[in-house]
Amino acid sequence: MTFFRFAAYQTRRGTDFPPEGAGMVELVLKRADADDLDELIALENAVKRSLPYDDMLVVDDKAFYKRLLDSGGRILIARGGDMAVGAGIISFPQEHDPDDLCGELNLSPAQAARVVRIESVYILEAYRGQRLAERLLKELLRYAQMLGKDLSLSTIWPGNAANLSAVFRQGRTLRKLVRKYGGLPRFIIMGAPTPPPVCGDTVWVRSMDLDGHAKQFADGKIGITMRKDEGSAFHSLAFDIGYRRLDTSLSS
Ligand SMILES: CC(C)(COP(=O)(O)OP(=O)(O)OC[C@H]1O[C@@H](n2cnc3c(N)ncnc32)[C@H](O)[C@@H]1OP(=O)(O)O)[C@@H](O)C(=O)NCCC(=O)NCCS
Repeated sequence: MTFFRFAAYQTRRGTDFPPEGAGMVELVLKRADADDLDELIALENAVKRSLPYDDMLVVDDKAFYKRLLDSGGRILIARGGDMAVGAGIISFPQEHDPDDLCGELNLSPAQAARVVRIESVYILEAYRGQRLAERLLKELLRYAQMLGKDLSLSTIWPGNAANLSAVFRQGRTLRKLVRKYGGLPRFIIMGAPTPPPVCGDTVWVRSMDLDGHAKQFADGKIGITMRKDEGSAFHSLAFDIGYRRLDTSLSS
C-alpha cells in the first residue's frame, strides 16, 4: 500500500489563509479498501451536511463503492491523524454501464478505451481552499495514466463554483448538460492531455441558466472558463461560465 505525506493548515471558513492560530496538520493519502468504506461514507455525509445546496452532491452507498473497488476503481482518502478529511474516487467504464458518459459524448471505441471516470472528490469544510482536491486527483490520474487512461470524464452541478474553478484551472472543459440522479442538472466534464482547440469570441452564460448552457452546447461550443461577480462568496451562484466554439477542424 502506498502512503503520501504532506502538511496542510486546518483552516476556518471565512478567515484569511493561514488563519491566526491554525495548526499544521500532517495529512496522509491512503488507498482505501473495503474496510475503509464506512469511514468514507461518513466523510461524504459530513461534507454533504456542510453544503448550502442539496443538489450539489449525491451521496453514494456502500454497494456502489464495493462494486467500484471490485471493478478496478480506486479510492484515495486523505487522513489527518485519525480523521478522514478528504477523498477522491475514480472508476473505469464498464460494459453496459447505465451511467455511460462515453455514450453521452458519442466517443469512439478508441477514445472510450482511454477513459477514466472521476466519480467524485470531497473535502471537509475546514480543509478546503488548499488545493487538496487537486492533490488527490493528481495521484489518482497518475495511476490511470499508467493504465493508458488519459481522458477523464466527470459530472458537476452547474452551481458548484468551487469545483468549477478547480476544473478550469486544471484545463478540463464542459461538454454537455445532462440530467442525472433522478433529474438533477449536471455538466459532463472532459479532461485530455492537451487542451481542446477553440475559436471565436467567448460567450458568457449565468451559472443556473440551464437553457442558456444547453444552447451553447447545441451550437458546438464548450465551457472553458468562469468569472465570479465581484465580491461573491465561495458558494454563491453569482458567476458566469464562458463558452468558445470547439474547432473541429483541429480536434482529434
Ligand atoms: C470542490 C472541492 C472538492 C474543492 O476542493 P479544494 O481542495 O477546496 O479545492 P481548491 O483548494 O482548489 O479550491 C477550489 C475553490 O474553492 C474555494 N474555496 C476556498 N475555501 C473554501 C471554502 N471554505 N468553502 C468553499 N469553497 C472554498 C477556493 O476559493 C477555490 O476557488 P479559486 O480557484 O477561485 O481560488 C471542495 O470545495 C468540496 O469538497 N466541495 C463539496 C463537495 C463537492 O462539491 N465535490 C464535487 C462534486 S463530487
